[in-house]
Amino acid sequence: MFAELERRVAAKREAGIDVISLGIGDPDQPTYPHIVKAMQEAVAENANQKYPSNQGRKEFREAFARFYGERFGVEIDPGSEVIPAIGAKECIYNLCFAFLDPGGVALAADPGYPVYTGGPTLAGANPELLPLLPELGFVPDLSAVPAQVARRARLMFINYPNNPTGAVAPEGFFELVVSFAREYELLVVHDNAYSETTFDGYVAPSFLATPGAKDVGVEVFSLSKGFNMTGWRCAAILGNADAIRTYWRLKTNVDSGLFEAVQLAGAAALRGPRGPVERMNETYVRRRDLVVSALRDIGVEVESPKGTIYVWAPVPEGHTSASFAELVLEEAAVVVSPGSMYGPSGEGFFRISLTAPDERISEAVERMREHLS
Ligand SMILES: Cc1ncc(COP(=O)(O)O)c(C=O)c1O
Repeated sequence: MFAELERRVAAKREAGIDVISLGIGDPDQPTYPHIVKAMQEAVAENANQKYPSNQGRKEFREAFARFYGERFGVEIDPGSEVIPAIGAKECIYNLCFAFLDPGGVALAADPGYPVYTGGPTLAGANPELLPLLPELGFVPDLSAVPAQVARRARLMFINYPNNPTGAVAPEGFFELVVSFAREYELLVVHDNAYSETTFDGYVAPSFLATPGAKDVGVEVFSLSKGFNMTGWRCAAILGNADAIRTYWRLKTNVDSGLFEAVQLAGAAALRGPRGPVERMNETYVRRRDLVVSALRDIGVEVESPKGTIYVWAPVPEGHTSASFAELVLEEAAVVVSPGSMYGPSGEGFFRISLTAPDERISEAVERMREHLS
């Protein structure tokens, strides 16, 4: 579906049509200057130009431990409870190969980041979907997971603040996840890609702050979105030391680690001032409000998200996700993502990404008001 969408966008652009893409969640603003400066200095050092160690630089692990302590109130042992990953995507994918046997089971949020299902499938295992229910605030009903499925599951992928729904974890949900994981002896992988991108005073917790979480889970923290670093491939896995060691053992056979200059720049990001992150979030709030009010004007009943870089909205009556995305492209020359791209429970929704400059978002919503009202 995505390939077809890309083909049509390319054809329109070739025909001279100004297509505005609100499809992909890749921040438009630059990486913050103090991070770029740290990278420029680190990259010039011969010591940082060698093969990295997959255990990670001390500075990187210590910066993460300090950040998790100050930001989330979570104690992390820099020696055993954190190592670098070459982006969350690599980490999630390799966790599947580290923990799943062919024929095994992973529980995957639906709708969800595609690697939660692609990773298990490529590892020869079976992703079992956890539908995120709108009536439960886009969390799964864990009591509805059949016991025979849960007993076979080794991994469970969850993610709050959530892509694509923009939902944040309701009070008490992470506690339910911990007791579910204990009951069925599975490893929880909380994908924390968006904790720094939150609005309206909401501060996202770490899953690892939940009592018992470190016994049953890991968290993947990516710097991609909150620090405008998608191209840098900088993330870490934190939490259960045994699980991290298992991931590390697989990883030493697969890649040669995260470029140490990037690790040092990542450490600078975590140690750096909060101002740039806060200003970025003000920008996203401005864009979110533009999008939400335009959608409401055209009759779409949409919730205003408290986090992430996405607005998730139901398609108007009589449309599927795909037919509505097509209509928006044809009528307004705006690309939105059909919700069904993120799993069967995404059907009936579409996603708008807030990662285009303000003027492009304004132009896109004006076009939608004009052509879809
Ligand atoms: C939920 C989620 N996890 C992970 C990623 C990818 O993170 P990274 O750039 O660190 O691989 C994304 C990117 O869109 C995402 O939405």
